[in-house]
Amino acid sequence: MDTPVPKNAEEEAGALAAVETHHAGMLKRLEALIAALTHAVKARDTGAEHEAHEVLVEWCETELVPHALAEEGPLYGGPGAMPEGRLLVAGMLAEHKAIVGLVERLRGSEGVDAAVAAGAIGQVFALHLEKENRLLMPFIVESPGLSLANSVAGLQELVGEAHIHAALGTEPPAPPANG
Ligand SMILES: [Fe+2]
Ligand SMILES: [Fe+2]
Repeated sequence: MDTPVPKNAEEEAGALAAVETHHAGMLKRLEALIAALTHAVKARDTGAEHEAHEVLVEWCETELVPHALAEEGPLYGGPGAMPEGRLLVAGMLAEHKAIVGLVERLRGSEGVDAAVAAGAIGQVFALHLEKENRLLMPFIVESPGLSLANSVAGLQELVGEAHIHAALGTEPPAPPANG
């Protein structure tokens, strides 16, 4: 039996909503960057392709991969240590590896190959975050021995900056003047 951890339903729901919102924002951005690359490849516009490829690779390296790595200890550790969660977590970790491998492939490719790799990243990430939203996080919320709010506390890579500032009662920094 797991030792129950003290937790608050409202905080658990708030943490779930924060990660879901962050995931949705990530997917939207990723899809826009993939669309820009695909469009440039289709149009055979090598200048635009080079630029879109660079922006997409950079976003994957600074947002997507750090997001996945940040989840592995704090978010996946608890359910991964439970018999009911172990297989799900093993499958999710395999998807992280697949995403990292696809980012490597994207970085080293161009033209149609790059568009194919980018499209695969988008598809795998969309399925993956759906599992996190609908299976993994609800499992954590419902497990008496785990707390989602504790798991994601302070992890900007998981909940986004706005949630952290709301939790701390601080103001987010003003966006740069030039956007
Ligand atoms: Fe993940
Ligand atoms: Fe995630």
